[in-house]
Amino acid sequence: MASIEFRKITKRFGDVEVIPDMDLDIADGEFVALLGPSGCGKSTSLLLLAGIYLPSTGDLLFDGHVVNDVEAKDRNVGIVFQSYALYPHMTVRDNIMFPLRFKKTPREEAIRRVNEAAALVQVGDLLDRRPGQLSGGQQQRVALARALVKQPQLLLLDEPLSNLDATLRLSMRTEIKSLQDELGVTTILVTHDQIEATTMADRIICMRAGRIEQAGTPDDLYARPSSLFVASFIGSPPINLVEGKAVNGTVDVSGIGFPATGATGAVTIGLRPEHLVVADTGLPGRIAQIEPMGREVLYVVSTDIGHIRILEQGSTAGRGAGEAVHVGFDEAHSLVFDTTTERLIPDSHVKPPAP
Ligand SMILES: Nc1ncnc2c1ncn2[C@@H]1O[C@H](COP(=O)(O)OP(=O)(O)OP(=O)(O)O)[C@@H](O)[C@H]1O
Ligand SMILES: [Mg+2]
Repeated sequence: MASIEFRKITKRFGDVEVIPDMDLDIADGEFVALLGPSGCGKSTSLLLLAGIYLPSTGDLLFDGHVVNDVEAKDRNVGIVFQSYALYPHMTVRDNIMFPLRFKKTPREEAIRRVNEAAALVQVGDLLDRRPGQLSGGQQQRVALARALVKQPQLLLLDEPLSNLDATLRLSMRTEIKSLQDELGVTTILVTHDQIEATTMADRIICMRAGRIEQAGTPDDLYARPSSLFVASFIGSPPINLVEGKAVNGTVDVSGIGFPATGATGAVTIGLRPEHLVVADTGLPGRIAQIEPMGREVLYVVSTDIGHIRILEQGSTAGRGAGEAVHVGFDEAHSLVFDTTTERLIPDSHVKPPAP
């Protein structure tokens, strides 16, 4: 297995700088997710690791050694693409065996390793079929077996679950996670699905326009997002954000005063829907919309500072549309951002407005 280091990596395509300056350390055996919107440079980062792209400047290190000049086939990296990219005219067996051809693995050992990899992802009984005769989930597993057969020191997964239906995604998530645990292989998963990232990875690297916006545990990004971008990207339903102005210990939002600590100037208050409650005191409003969501109920409350989303536990709504209510929350869960820099102001909090 390998530890990975991006050291001042830039990547340009002609005039376009896709990765401006990337520094990143990934520990041996770590499971990391690259999360970010379309076009932020996730796949480019993987292709740099795989050796398919070369950095424009900077160094890429595996286990402390610069690998810039090591060819893709010599990097011992397993990669699974979104499209699986299986060879349609080959059997499952030959598809899985394919990477071993370049390594001149003796026939008997190759067969043994194909059988092992196939068993690992439970496609051992499908070896004589062709990809066209498999379901999406089965093709996905064959692609995974093909990536694992050469016992890679690094496993790269680029949106591997995006073609699967919801149920299959859920079970493949668990399977990939436990497989990674078992093999201990350093793994980088690219996804724009925040649930996938938070459930599978030890650490999430949130990217924006080729830069790392925040790297941390799923809980770090959820509870202490370093910027408005991360705060809005992580969490579902999305965080409530309201802009105000902090003067003398109060954040004024459209004439409503929120008692505040540690804030000055133009700030944005962030309140996650699941940290809000429909209460008897707090910010007054009226229930505009009720959406039952299975085990939770989403209330949209119309207030003087705009529509506020509240997510409450419980399968049935205890309130009716049009009802006058208050929005309450615990100060400790409130987030305050500097509106100009978009950065979190650490240790700054607000309380609900006094009656
Ligand atoms: N070969 C290329 N030539 C020029 N521009 C490229 C090339 N490959 C990627 N780009 C650009 O680099 C940026 C990052 O692309 P990349 O494929 O890494 O994004 P991504 O984060 O994987 O997005 P998605 O979630 O849509 O897959 C995009 O703006 C893309 O248009
Ligand atoms: Mg991509």
